[in-house]
Amino acid sequence: MRHPEVPVMRHHDLSAARDLAEDLAVSAGALIRERRPKQVEVLETKSSKVDPVTEMDQFIENYLVTRIRAERPLDGILGEEGDDIPGTSGLTWVIDPIDGTVNYLYGVASCAVSVALVAGPPDPLSWQPLAAAVHAVDFGRTWTAATGQGATADGAPIRQNPPAPLSRSLVATGFGYAARRREGQARVLLELLPHIRDIRRLGSAAIDLCLQAEGAVDLYYERGLSPWDFAAGALIASEAGSTVCGLRGARPTTTMVVAGRGEALTELLRILEAADADDPAW
Ligand code: IPD
Repeated sequence: MRHPEVPVMRHHDLSAARDLAEDLAVSAGALIRERRPKQVEVLETKSSKVDPVTEMDQFIENYLVTRIRAERPLDGILGEEGDDIPGTSGLTWVIDPIDGTVNYLYGVASCAVSVALVAGPPDPLSWQPLAAAVHAVDFGRTWTAATGQGATADGAPIRQNPPAPLSRSLVATGFGYAARRREGQARVLLELLPHIRDIRRLGSAAIDLCLQAEGAVDLYYERGLSPWDFAAGALIASEAGSTVCGLRGARPTTTMVVAGRGEALTELLRILEAADADDPAW
């Protein structure tokens, strides 16, 4: 049942929110391309010494916050670089100014601006995603979605092909920044790798989810994402026709996000559950 405080958005309001998300993500991506210095420096580190923040992460978050506050003053904002602004509308913009900061730091061409609008508490355990856009900065590609309105890639509706069996599936994943988490993730990978075509670690969960949405990879899973890493990509994948979930019947949360379709998804979930890929001990 819908929570009484969760606002209902009409079709055209959802479309307008998706268009704003797209404009925010694309214009922020243009700023990153224009202002990227020759040598990117680490400004500080966050969860561990290998989890960097650059000046650009903060500059782009400020840019997004300023624009959202001007255009949607009643909405809340939750951002990777620390913005946690409560709103009064029951809606929250969940933003990742650079998803794939390590790639941005090294000049590896795979980072994205991720913008989503959610209803309800800004927590993946209970939020309702409404609108989303992911802009891949280096490739200039953009994916969007609005609830019930499908997903697009570069303006065209995403149409998925029949799913591949697990043995022929290309699977994207990612790793956390803490050594103990990585040890656990490596153990899970050992269980999975013999059963699939291959694995990809591209370095941006938002892009991984969009690639899964359009079939450029077959499956995606990752333990321990932050809400802003997957808020937009998960809506894009589910609106494209994928199932996006956690393990053991859970919703997609910071514990685990899995995206895929068909028998291959069922088998992937079985392997991840048997390998205790959501083990709280790590
Ligand atoms: C990271 C990326 C990466 C994933 C990490 C995330 P960030 O986001 O999405 O693909 O594996 O778990 O933290 O830190 O670059 O915004």
